[in-house]
Amino acid sequence: MKSYKEIIEERYDGIEKDIHVYDNIYSMINPIGYHGDKKLRSVFYTAFNYIRNSGVDITKSNILDIGCGKGSTTRFFSELTGSSQNIYGLDLSEYRIQCATKMNPNINYKIGDIVRPLSFPIMFDIITALDVFMHLNDKKEILLALNNIKMQLKKDGYFIWYDAYSSDHFKTTQTQDHSGFHPKQMVELAQEAGFKKVFQINVFKKLFWKYHSLYLIKRIPVSMINIMEQTIPGSPGNMMIMFVKST
Ligand SMILES: C[S@@+](CC[C@H](N)C(=O)[O-])C[C@H]1O[C@@H](n2cnc3c(N)ncnc32)[C@H](O)[C@@H]1O
Repeated sequence: MKSYKEIIEERYDGIEKDIHVYDNIYSMINPIGYHGDKKLRSVFYTAFNYIRNSGVDITKSNILDIGCGKGSTTRFFSELTGSSQNIYGLDLSEYRIQCATKMNPNINYKIGDIVRPLSFPIMFDIITALDVFMHLNDKKEILLALNNIKMQLKKDGYFIWYDAYSSDHFKTTQTQDHSGFHPKQMVELAQEAGFKKVFQINVFKKLFWKYHSLYLIKRIPVSMINIMEQTIPGSPGNMMIMFVKST
């Protein structure tokens, strides 16, 4: 697999700059972007209500989104908590941080690398990372990143890890620019870094272990896809696993 630094340079700080919002399949104006965002909001609804019911006041929580991209998740957190001053985003792509800051000037964004110590002057109640670890190809890098997250979390703080599914993260080809995880791998890696699993929510499905249901949305009505997800065998398409800092 390519290194995450190459991917940032080639894709996020490279070709992505020239892609018009209408041509980006993940933008909210296109079906994949729209439905993906709707599903993500529903898993965050569950996760944040769990945290709220555990006695944490989410409206006063410091929340950091690692690999925040153009800022859509941080913007959602700001809506969810009714505040932007406690919301932070970090990304290694200079271009993406510029876009996020332009859209959400009151949210705190910073360029930074999750594999290096984070050095925020505050501690966080919740840290999230959505589709970011998929770009780290080396176990040492992943454990360093998880440790950096842990060091920046308050005692009993939550880490929400969302990633794509694959049967084995470390089985990749040289040209791949990302690779998902088996949920067991996510739990083992997080446990090794000092986290305890709270719960897992599976999102989308790889029907017959092959066809990711989100990407069928252009061709098949959503109601039909929902039935297919319930009836056709396969693996999760993506997983959100919530962890709590344990050491
Ligand atoms: C697939 S995108 C996901 C963006 C966003 N989290 C979302 O779900 O829309 C991966 C993001 O991770 C960022 N990234 C990759 N490696 C990183 C690293 N080592 N440190 C910080 N950010 C990184 C990329 O720049 C990119 O914005």
